[in-house]
Amino acid sequence: MDAGGQRTLPERIPREIAAVADYVPSARARLDDNAWAYIDGGAADELTLRWNRESFDRLRLKPRVLAPVAGGHTRTTLFGAEYAHPILLAPVAYQRLAHPEGELAVAHAASATDTAMVVSTLSSILLEEIAVTTRAPLWFQLYMQADRGFTRALVERAETCGCRVLVVTVDAPINGVRNREQRAGFRLPPDIAPVNLRGMPLSPPGRPESWQSQVFDRMMAGAPTWADLEWLRGETALPIVIKGILSPEDAVKAVEIGADGVIVSNHGGRTLDTLPATIDALPAIAEAVDGRLTLLLDGGVRRGTDVLKALALGARAVLIGRPYLYALAAAGPLGVAHVIRVLRDELEAAMVLTGCATLGEIGRQTLFDVYADQGRTSTAFPA
Ligand code: FNR
Ligand code: LAC
Repeated sequence: MDAGGQRTLPERIPREIAAVADYVPSARARLDDNAWAYIDGGAADELTLRWNRESFDRLRLKPRVLAPVAGGHTRTTLFGAEYAHPILLAPVAYQRLAHPEGELAVAHAASATDTAMVVSTLSSILLEEIAVTTRAPLWFQLYMQADRGFTRALVERAETCGCRVLVVTVDAPINGVRNREQRAGFRLPPDIAPVNLRGMPLSPPGRPESWQSQVFDRMMAGAPTWADLEWLRGETALPIVIKGILSPEDAVKAVEIGADGVIVSNHGGRTLDTLPATIDALPAIAEAVDGRLTLLLDGGVRRGTDVLKALALGARAVLIGRPYLYALAAAGPLGVAHVIRVLRDELEAAMVLTGCATLGEIGRQTLFDVYADQGRTSTAFPA
């Protein structure tokens, strides 16, 4: 056992770990029930959590042989900066639950693999420490605070730390009904805290005697609305990406308030159960925004073929959450770097076998349409 109470991590990735899913058993073995419920669990019956995966699995790819793909690559440009590949690390709170070095370990892996890391407002290591310790390309995920002064302070800190993009998460103004956490009695250990929020009140002051509902009168009293997003747009020159959009109507609102991007996300199935899988929500959103902002997607990405499918249906890049947490718990920064490598290698192989030399060549035609490709009229994908 080391100082973090965990067993010593492997120095090399064992041969048996060939895919993202292979990390799950060793992550489970290294984490206690408390951390496991928080990291692995979802909301209520975890149907959305499951559907995120099942919907990817249902999509078929269309092979194209003998295409000239030599010299191809996975490079992409997002919000004015170039990245080696379209796989980003999603914002995840309290990463020291998975590994004693938490966000620092992840940032080292991001740096080594030229991967953008989105640092959560609720990181368990200070944003400033992550920024000075590593060279990872950082984005900052903002949970808007009830007090605009505190929100502005967080944005200014992100700017000072050189974060390239501001990701504003809008789908979790309250915690989901997390039955798995409740059953495990989930609590943050005493040495893990939302250190970026030190000195900020966690909920707005109020008069409990007048509350009719904990949710509407207390929690929602300080929750942001579209008007706050418009205010935020005027506060920063950073690109703003709204995370947690699942409906075309809200995606169009994001365009209207001047957002630069949207992350199609259901928070990894952690907020409202029975929301649709993100890959199912993506096509209608892509159609509604019609190229007016950049679409990203997360939720259930576990294979390079999932990345290809998301790009085929309109995303420019994807984010992964639990995959890198499993790897972090099982094998530290080496594991995180390995998971990114595995997904990137799988994406490259899938591109070659579908005849795509660059990400720009991936499109609807990369998917096997069960109707059109059998010579019948398509109902699966609108043109
Ligand atoms: C999250 N997610 C999240 N999102 C966010 O905007 N801020 C946060 O602090 C967190 N915290 C968090 C903790 C844990 C343990 C998980 C698993 C997820 C959601 C995350 O950014 C992302 O949307 C999902 O994790 C994507 O789904 P997969 O890849 O985990 O299936
Ligand atoms: C979660 C919050 C912190 O998903 O976003 O646990």
